[in-house]
Amino acid sequence: MRATTTIALALGLALVTVGAQARDWATIKKSGTINAVSEGAYPPFNFYQGTKLTGYEIDVLEAVAKNLGLKVKWSALPFDSQIASIRQDRFDVAIASHGITEERLKSVDFTSPHYCSGGQLVAKADGPLKADQLAGKTLGVQLSTTYADAAKKVGGTKEVKTYSKDTDALQALMGGRVDAWVTDRFVAKEALSKSNAKGLKAGDMLFIERIAMVHKKGNAELNAELNKALAALKADGTLKAISEKYFHEDITCT
Ligand code: ARG
Repeated sequence: MRATTTIALALGLALVTVGAQARDWATIKKSGTINAVSEGAYPPFNFYQGTKLTGYEIDVLEAVAKNLGLKVKWSALPFDSQIASIRQDRFDVAIASHGITEERLKSVDFTSPHYCSGGQLVAKADGPLKADQLAGKTLGVQLSTTYADAAKKVGGTKEVKTYSKDTDALQALMGGRVDAWVTDRFVAKEALSKSNAKGLKAGDMLFIERIAMVHKKGNAELNAELNKALAALKADGTLKAISEKYFHEDITCT
């Protein structure tokens, strides 16, 4: 039994070792391709149009890669497994609206922010639209997000229901299974602009956050290259143009 366990452990370790390696900047540059992960269920930041992954963040990383002379190989994973996938060296970078938090900084590094935003309450017109109306209410949020953290910090709520996708939390609100949804203010704006969202309203902002790309802790050269490209795209107006395409306003941080 013990020997079997030892062999299984050794095999597991060997698989982890050959499965993926943290790629430094020189290796990425030489390969000509950056391996990126996003989610594809968070419109208009990252979503599927048919079978095509698209959105503000997809365009931003495509522009960053172009600036660095690279192509992007895209993969999609549920939001709550992305930080782990970066830690396991499965991808070079994740871009899926990760807010910069102390907690996440313990296990991964962030680039400079590609936008600034915050968590907002969304509810039916007669629902809890103010932060001080949440006592006894049920909130719907996406799992492992800063919205889930914020919702759990609100005192006196009846329940915080978590969903694997943010769009599922929206469906729960529309279906009356939760009283309010906490999401990104630009996600809220987009959702409210859709004809099937009639009757929903955006309420109080609960917190603000800076959103950035995530990569392996300690990959300093990659960090510097990504930040250099972001700065160039900010300076030449590319980031602003991408932002205006999706939001009709500039959401980059000032
Ligand atoms: N901004 C929030 C956070 O940092 C939520 C991001 C959700 N992203 C997504 N692709 N669903 O946790």
